[in-house]
Amino acid sequence: MYPERVVSGMRPTGALHLGHYHGALKNWVRLQSEYPCYYFVADWHALTTHYEEPEVVEQNAWEMVIDWLAAGVDPAQATLFIQSRVPEHAELHTLLSMITPLGWLERVPTYKDQQERLADRDLATYGFLGYPLLQSADVLIYRARFVPVGEDQVPHVEFMREIARRFNHVFGREPGFEEKAKAAVKKLGSRKAKLYGELRTRYQERGDAGALESARALLDEAQNLSQGDRERLFGYLEGGGRVILVEPDVLLTEASRLPGLDGQKMSKSYGNTIGLREDAETVIRKIRTMPTDPARVKRTDPGDPEKCPVWQFHLAYSDQKTKEWVLQGCRSAGIGCLECKQPVIDAVLAEQAPMRERAQRYLDDRTLVKNIVADGCDKARELARETMREVREVMGLAYT
Ligand code: TRP
Ligand code: SF4
Repeated sequence: MYPERVVSGMRPTGALHLGHYHGALKNWVRLQSEYPCYYFVADWHALTTHYEEPEVVEQNAWEMVIDWLAAGVDPAQATLFIQSRVPEHAELHTLLSMITPLGWLERVPTYKDQQERLADRDLATYGFLGYPLLQSADVLIYRARFVPVGEDQVPHVEFMREIARRFNHVFGREPGFEEKAKAAVKKLGSRKAKLYGELRTRYQERGDAGALESARALLDEAQNLSQGDRERLFGYLEGGGRVILVEPDVLLTEASRLPGLDGQKMSKSYGNTIGLREDAETVIRKIRTMPTDPARVKRTDPGDPEKCPVWQFHLAYSDQKTKEWVLQGCRSAGIGCLECKQPVIDAVLAEQAPMRERAQRYLDDRTLVKNIVADGCDKARELARETMREVREVMGLAYT
């Protein structure tokens, strides 16, 4: 019914690292040629936990967009924008809040987890509780089909599906829905109307999922339907009201195979990161001083790659031959750890080289970045406005 759009955001919390690249950005880059993608700086979300540091938000936002561009996100393909520059997100958030049961928000698992994890911050705010609802607005406003995120965000996507369903249930049941839907069926033309009717019966009476699929495809192809009628017919198929907000699906980003320098998850708070655009000298030093299998005290002690974070890096970067060389050489004490690290150093530097190069253009001329984002905001806003027009209308705020 809508183009299969992809929406995702990142909070501007500081320079990105290779964990972000392997965990998310690489996936963003891949998706940009497959779907219309909308990637944004979630600056309001950053304030939910960091409202005491407003001075760093903007700086971090620009740096992060440069990191995206460095990683290969292509502004000619994807739309890049800043959440707070599309204030419609906030409007939708407010309107969705009217139908959001408090218990739903309190039960989102990240709510309690994060409060415990970030015990040094005051998170007893409305903004923090409402985090998943704001995130829902971010996605639902573009009627996105897919949200590429990591495992930890799955409950948030589940939450937005429930919000969309509830919204459609409450506001898609306009007065005279049944009659309006029947009138819309007629507009399909007699042949398609008959087919739609048959498929609908097959789905509703026998739960035939293939029939549902075919009926949706039929609606996708129907040329002469208004937006409202299209939404009615989608809803009518399943026995509900109009489908105004689309339930998105998670596109799980394969869990990052790149841990931090110490083998834990790569994270700024653990101090175990390699920056996306970190200078070569620092990268070399960091990898050279990485811990290895603690059992390998002397060069002549054999080691076990399974107990070594360097091996995790080989898994992410090395080819089969190199990996065999490591396994064999480590277990037999045939190679030294510094020797073992060299191919990793080479691979990381090779991965970063094009990123540094792409970033340089934008570092030299910041107006390029600002223009990309300004264009992206305009594009995103246009779509957001369309959705809001409809949302306002069904919520009784059209004021015509
Ligand atoms: N909560 C996400 C994170 O911490 C960031 C985010 C905000 C987001 N809004 C979004 C991700 C909408 C996907 C879609 O990573
Ligand atoms: Fe780790 Fe390589 Fe040293 Fe083995 S040889 S302990 S895999 S760094």
